[in-house]
Amino acid sequence: MDLFEYQARDVFEKHGVPVLAGAVATTPQEARAAAETIGASSGGVTVVKAQVKTGGRGKAGGVKVAKTAEEAEQHAEQILGMDIKGHTVHTVMIAQGAKIAEEYYFSILLDRANRSYLAMCSKEGGMEIEQLAVERPEALARIEVDPNVGIDDAKAQEIVDAAGFDDADKAAIADVLKKLWVVYRDEDATLVEVNPLVKDEDGKILALDGKVTLDENAAFRQPSHAELEDKAAADPLEAKAKAMDLNYVKLDGNVGIIGNGAGLVMSTLDVVAYAGQDHTGGVAKPANFLDIGGGASAEVMANGLDVILGDEQVKSVFVNVFGGITACDAVANGIVGALKTLGDDATKPLVVRLDGNNVEEGRRILAELGHPLVTIEDTMDGAAKKAAELAAAN
Ligand SMILES: Nc1ncnc2c1ncn2[C@@H]1O[C@H](COP(=O)(O)OP(=O)(O)OP(=O)(O)O)[C@@H](O)[C@H]1O
Ligand SMILES: [Mg+2]
Repeated sequence: MDLFEYQARDVFEKHGVPVLAGAVATTPQEARAAAETIGASSGGVTVVKAQVKTGGRGKAGGVKVAKTAEEAEQHAEQILGMDIKGHTVHTVMIAQGAKIAEEYYFSILLDRANRSYLAMCSKEGGMEIEQLAVERPEALARIEVDPNVGIDDAKAQEIVDAAGFDDADKAAIADVLKKLWVVYRDEDATLVEVNPLVKDEDGKILALDGKVTLDENAAFRQPSHAELEDKAAADPLEAKAKAMDLNYVKLDGNVGIIGNGAGLVMSTLDVVAYAGQDHTGGVAKPANFLDIGGGASAEVMANGLDVILGDEQVKSVFVNVFGGITACDAVANGIVGALKTLGDDATKPLVVRLDGNNVEEGRRILAELGHPLVTIEDTMDGAAKKAAELAAAN
């Protein structure tokens, strides 16, 4: 889960990372009121910042300095509602204005390829960091961080040395890096990025912009993270599936997919995409990922169908089950149950491929049902082709 900048700011503050005062606003009037309070300690100067979960806000005109509260109101008026790379700005943060002397870059991230963590740091931070990384990669220090040790004094020293900071600044910067490590570790983050990390005219080191990604797999031990979720942005189908404890991801196509086991569902997405390309010229594509898991009951099957049939984009559904722990008759009963519940609301064709544990009984149940919308196929490829054709035809 990615955080908004203002949420990252709060998390930084909680762990003692030096940040400036900030407040969120959703209307220009609120922005003005916030600027009056926040600007009081920085000579009236504030910065109005678009809160969207994407980079390059400054370049898109989503970060603007205001010298007065009126000006903050005008900037907010302009920035609210703006579209930045497909993200609409609903909220701005009014941040205290800093007197920046230098801008640096620092991040800690999960380095999957090396099964480790990686810290990146540069003396030349700011809005051109991507360009710097491409054109002068040597100006961006990359230091491996052992997850078992983290950024201790020695590691912080290694990073500030590698980045080539002035000796006079090293101790203060190293201290902030250690605190950012605590954020990364204690919040179960997979990314903590500060760009810019600045030195102000008084020599103080401040995190002026933060990007934090939290590891959702750690949610069970991070109860406070639930509050950080952007409920307004969550896909309603994904939210519904989550409430039912289903592993569902909405995609952009028209063939609904249900399978048991993540591996089988992944390959089902592939065969459907392939069949869609081959037989419908790319019209038919997978509409979602939905894994009902091993040992899924009839109820789970019915819940899964309920979510998928609620997707307006879906024109056909492919149920692909290989019975191992899950018995095919339970799956078949789930389909029967779901169709009964839906009654006349069931209008989308279902292609079912069952194999494995209790397959005969499963097929018998479906054959006996004899529902006009249900087609039974013997093979995965055959079923993918059928589902793709039905989606393209509907
Ligand atoms: N509180 C502040 N006071 C003074 N200047 C600021 C402040 N916040 C940001 N700036 C200036 O604005 C620039 C852009 O701000 P910021 O880094 O938050 O946005 P961005 O980098 O464009 O966004 P993103 O990180 O999403 O790409 C900074 O590099 C800094 O020069
Ligand atoms: Mg930035």
